[in-house]
Amino acid sequence: MALLPILCYPDPKLLTVAKSVGAVDARIQTLVSDMLVTMYEAKGIGLAATQVDVHERVIVIDTSEERDQPLVLINPEIVWKSEATHLNEEGCLSVPGIYDGVVRHDAVHVSALDETGASRRIEAEELLAVCIQHEMDHLLGKVFVEYLSPLKRNRIKTKMMKLQREESR
Ligand code: NI
Repeated sequence: MALLPILCYPDPKLLTVAKSVGAVDARIQTLVSDMLVTMYEAKGIGLAATQVDVHERVIVIDTSEERDQPLVLINPEIVWKSEATHLNEEGCLSVPGIYDGVVRHDAVHVSALDETGASRRIEAEELLAVCIQHEMDHLLGKVFVEYLSPLKRNRIKTKMMKLQREESR
C-alpha cells in the first residue's frame, strides 16, 4: 500500500475525462487500496482516481463516523436520481481549505462494480448521495468549484496558485 500524491486545483490534469475500467484485476485492486489509504490519511470522505492522476473510473468513499465502511465504486453509473435537490456545503481534497455550496440531488441510485469485480447497486441519500455525485463529477473532469460563480472561482484559483507557489519555495 502506498500514499498517492493528490492533484491540486487548478491542475489541468483534473480536467481529464476518465475511461471505463476494462477488468478489475490486481492492478485495479492495488489502485483501490492505495486510494483508500490516501483518502483516510487525508481525512477525506471520498476520492476519485482522477485526483491521483489515474484516469479510470474508480471512486472510493467512506462517509461513516467510525471511518470503517469503505465503499468502492468502479465504472459507476447513476441509474436514478431524485427530483428533489438541495444546496450542500462541499469541500474537496484537491481544493484544500475551500468550502462552498453546490446543488445536488437528494438521492441517487448507482450501479457499479466493487473491488472484486461483482456488480452492485447502491441506493444513496443525504451525505453519501452528495459524495457520490461529487466524486463522479471528478471522473468527468469536473471539480466542484466549476459550479460557483466565475468571480468566486477565479478568487479560489488565485488563492490555490499562491498556496502552491509558497509550498514549492
Ligand atoms: Ni473532490
